[in-house]
Amino acid sequence: MTTPKSLFIKTYGCQMNVYDSERMAEALAPEGYVQTDTPEGADMILLNTCHIREKAAEKIYSELGRLKPLKAENPDLKIGVTGCVAQAEGAEIVRRQPAVDLVVGPQSYHRLPQLMEQMKTGAAIETEFPAEDKFDHLPSRDAGRGPKARRAPAAFLTVQEGCDKFCAFCVVPYTRGAEVSRPVDRVLAEARDLVNRGVREITLLGQNVNAYHGDKDGGTWGLAKLIWALNEIDGLERIRFTTSHPNDMEDDLIEAHGTCAKLMPYLHLPVQSGSDKILKLMNRKHTAESYIALIERFRKARPDLLLSGDFIVGFPGETDEDFEATLDLVRRVNYGQAYSFKYSARPGTPAAERPDVPAQVADERLQRLQALLREQQVECQDAMVGKTVGVLFEKAGRIEGQMVGKSDHLHAVHVYAPDHKPGDLVQVRITISRTNSLEGELL
Ligand code: 5AD
Ligand code: SF4
Repeated sequence: MTTPKSLFIKTYGCQMNVYDSERMAEALAPEGYVQTDTPEGADMILLNTCHIREKAAEKIYSELGRLKPLKAENPDLKIGVTGCVAQAEGAEIVRRQPAVDLVVGPQSYHRLPQLMEQMKTGAAIETEFPAEDKFDHLPSRDAGRGPKARRAPAAFLTVQEGCDKFCAFCVVPYTRGAEVSRPVDRVLAEARDLVNRGVREITLLGQNVNAYHGDKDGGTWGLAKLIWALNEIDGLERIRFTTSHPNDMEDDLIEAHGTCAKLMPYLHLPVQSGSDKILKLMNRKHTAESYIALIERFRKARPDLLLSGDFIVGFPGETDEDFEATLDLVRRVNYGQAYSFKYSARPGTPAAERPDVPAQVADERLQRLQALLREQQVECQDAMVGKTVGVLFEKAGRIEGQMVGKSDHLHAVHVYAPDHKPGDLVQVRITISRTNSLEGELL
């Protein structure tokens, strides 16, 4: 028996990092590491970083500076940087902050146990893209937690990683590498295991999840086929997936939104800009019209689909006219929810070489876009009042007897339901629309 040691993981960025952090904790469990909620007193601290926007690396260096004094209190403390900043910066991290013992990129988490050995004799740095798939070598999910350990009702499951699209602003193809899909049987086995542990909703994750092509019996399955197989799992009630690219959308996936009972009416489909000129400069390989045509097909299959998206304003070369085209597209699509960002140059990407739009102009555009998206979000929420939706309870609310969960359309919903528990899927009539959530009553 190894003596227990404590592990603190701070996760930044996307849901895939949340998933990876869980997997790292699982890879380290056999080494005797048990997770804690605070860095103070930990024997190992991992910063699982994100490199997608703004000064990510600088923020990590500041955080490392704050953590370094903990080494004086615990000489055995090890500090590691994982995730996309680790991949992008590599050995530079140890050069700038010698207190760092470990730098490991997202493709190499399965090598953590060996890297722990290496750390005994000096900093361990691993930023290669190894030939093997990390998922083949990571311990099975929940290994070390006991066969019956329960999970929260909603879980993420990574099915695809990496990206071959090379949008001109984006670091993902460099930090996460080429598109790789996990084999179908592994995904289904992990899903069944999650369901046995109390999971009722699974969100399939991938940087380009709809490019999924997982091996199955000598051939490959696309995402729709995988979703149909998940639909057959008893006890699994809901299926979602994120994030998709407009160019990888296949007919059977669109259709499934109208026919697959467990597939939820929500689609996150980033467009980034409404101007064809900017889309071209971004290397997006789709137009505003082709995107809108795609949305129309989805809405035909599933009229109540809630649309979500990502936008970048102030991309190099964006004129007022280009920005107006983005606002037009937003008006035409009508989003229920969306993320919008001011462009920030990421070193090593093609767009980083191009002249920036003045910061003040980009700020003003971002405010206008966010005001419009906010308006649409409120409208979409308000339109839910009076409707009946499914709600999967996730936890108790702050008020006595209240439960909180997510609706089919991914709205947070508060319901007075003293006889219910997390994991219950109930029908709720929406009564009130609040700032960022809904309120409803049990039917
Ligand atoms: N600047 C601003 N936003 C970016 N995104 C990706 N790279 C950048 C960048 N350099 C946004 C895109 C993407 C989301 C995850 O982050 O909108 O869809
Ligand atoms: Fe980045 Fe574009 Fe790939 Fe999305 S599709 S991860 S924005 S390169």
